[in-house]
Amino acid sequence: MTFKKNILCIGAGYVGGPTMAMIAYKCPQYKVTVVDINPSRIAEWNSDDLPIYEPGLDKIVKSTRDKNLFFTTEMERGIKEAEIIFVSVNTPVKTFGAGAGMAADLQYWEKTARQILKCSESSKIIVEKSTFPVRTAFAMERILSLSENNTHFDVLSNPEFLAEGTAIKDLEYPDRVLIGSRETPSGVRAKDELIEIYSHWVPKDRIITSNIWSSELSKLVANAFLAQRVSSINSFTAFCEKTEANITEVARAIGMDSRLGNKFLNSSVGWGGSCFKKDILNLVYLCRHYGLEEVADYWEGVVRINEYQMERFVLNMLNAMFNTLAGKKICLFGFAFKGNTGDTRESPAIFIAKKLIEEKAELVITDPEALNNAKIDLNGIDGKIMYIDDPYEASGGCDAIAVMTEWDIYISLDFEKIYRSMVKPAFIFDGRNILDHKRLFDIGFNVFPIGKTPFTHF
Ligand SMILES: NC(=O)c1ccc[n+]([C@@H]2O[C@H](COP(=O)([O-])OP(=O)(O)OC[C@H]3O[C@@H](n4cnc5c(N)ncnc54)[C@H](O)[C@@H]3O)[C@@H](O)[C@H]2O)c1
Repeated sequence: MTFKKNILCIGAGYVGGPTMAMIAYKCPQYKVTVVDINPSRIAEWNSDDLPIYEPGLDKIVKSTRDKNLFFTTEMERGIKEAEIIFVSVNTPVKTFGAGAGMAADLQYWEKTARQILKCSESSKIIVEKSTFPVRTAFAMERILSLSENNTHFDVLSNPEFLAEGTAIKDLEYPDRVLIGSRETPSGVRAKDELIEIYSHWVPKDRIITSNIWSSELSKLVANAFLAQRVSSINSFTAFCEKTEANITEVARAIGMDSRLGNKFLNSSVGWGGSCFKKDILNLVYLCRHYGLEEVADYWEGVVRINEYQMERFVLNMLNAMFNTLAGKKICLFGFAFKGNTGDTRESPAIFIAKKLIEEKAELVITDPEALNNAKIDLNGIDGKIMYIDDPYEASGGCDAIAVMTEWDIYISLDFEKIYRSMVKPAFIFDGRNILDHKRLFDIGFNVFPIGKTPFTHF
């Protein structure tokens, strides 16, 4: 079959894999190839057992793979063949040198840009899909302009707004697709090519365009606002616990204000995920770079409140359990940073597990999708940790359960059976406020929700 265009995506991660699968699914006339430097990741994408868990992903990958969707490590060939290249590599926080712990580590995209330059024999459109610091497109253009064989590159910014756990739904029915471009004739042509791809399934009025810098900044601002919502509601959980106010009631009351809206008001043990922290810190770093100290401090506070919330959770456990956790067995219900994903990057569970081990507690960790990642995250930690799939088996013989992830399966467990199998007094710390606290109390548990008065039998 001859394809209308060849699309390449560099980076087969949580964004590259699902995004390209959706493009291949919706645009059968395009050939979509995904490359990665990690051969085992590519092998997993080509296997029955995909490297990431995402509801609905299996179906679309398996219906397009080896038809118009291909996963390969053949970077050079992929670059040569492609007319459009999406860059979807990771952009972690820099761990060394200037800006360590704050700035984005740009070595991955720079290597990618140089590789594109080296292998290209024809002009191409380069699409920034990763979340980059503002003005990365400029640096990318500078590198690509070093071409000696008359090739021309148009760089577009097309940040990805999907949320893990709902990635396929978000990709199929996006709130909006944002495309930032130069206003030069070839920049506009490149933008129109990308619009054409998305127009196969996204309504025209949801495809919005802007200049490149606004597009790059919008992604950072979106993540900063989302994290700020959760940090804001979480900051009042501490207040509620002191005053007998109830955070769920407060959230409902403010969420009905149409100016505020009711989304992202669930209080919790804290937000996690690979993006929020790194993107806010990157924004903070950029603010300081431009001398905007007050703005930097303001957004840094969003990260600080999140750390405070996780620390508070452990301190509440310690206080409730008679100020010692040494030798006590604590079962973590969930390890993923949110429900419906196996991703544990920056999961509050990592922080809490480490703190509990410092207190000399023993841990039993259960999660339907994230146990392999949990083992990697806690590898080498000096403490007693068990990993058990079945939540009944995992909680048996434990002193306490701490809910870390809002998996639906935890809501409908038989807690009478669980209570019978636990050491008494039995405690539940609901870090996601998903359980029926009054019912658990009636069963016999001492229940500690977030931002609400605890139910205790003492
Ligand atoms: N995960 C999310 O929910 C999400 C959502 C929106 C945006 N983003 C952004 O998208 C980008 C990618 O995130 P992710 O979660 O998919 O990361 P990821 O770590 O899951 O995937 C990145 C992939 O890029 C590969 N890679 C790195 N350098 C490479 C190179 N030179 N050549 C080929 N492959 C290379 C890595 O091996 C890895 O498989 C980040 O900038 C992130 O901030 C992520």
